[in-house]
Amino acid sequence: MTHDLLLWLHFVSLALGGASTFGNAVVGAAVARQGEAARPHLLPVARSLGRLGHVALALLILTGGALVEMGPGWSGVGLWFWVKMALVATLTVSVVLVTRAARMAAGGDAAAGRRARLLGRLNMLLIPLIVLTAVFEFG
Ligand code: HEM
Repeated sequence: MTHDLLLWLHFVSLALGGASTFGNAVVGAAVARQGEAARPHLLPVARSLGRLGHVALALLILTGGALVEMGPGWSGVGLWFWVKMALVATLTVSVVLVTRAARMAAGGDAAAGRRARLLGRLNMLLIPLIVLTAVFEFG
């Protein structure tokens, strides 16, 4: 039962994290399309989506760790699990960097804006790859 609830929370967090990452790509494209006038309206949306993503990633790591403890244990997991962990670590670093770049871009730094867009694209690639390695390991 506890395991099922943790797995449920793992999946809900995945949905929230995906909504944040892909949602922010849509908001970023709208900011680029609509220009300066839209920034005061859209930047708070991007910031809120970013915060949602941080909570989701923290929950994924916490519930994931608990699922390992309750399930196979750290010595019972296979190679795909460790590939998944390397991708999760890359995603975590990228989330820190994209948050910093987005903050600088909001202050008018164009180079930081380009960096944020690139990191956002990387995150949109990392999430499906993490899901793929999870399915290879546990599916
Ligand atoms: C962005 C981060 C993560 C994503 C997108 C993600 C995604 C997933 C998905 C889609 C599954 C289901 C796989 C299947 O049943 O076929 C899964 C299961 C699992 N994940 Fe994650 N995960 C993430 C982070 C983590 C972390 C950090 C850990 C461990 C520290 C972890 C541990 C597990 C475990 C143990 C399962 C199997 C649960 C079970 O069926 O008993 N995950 N994850």
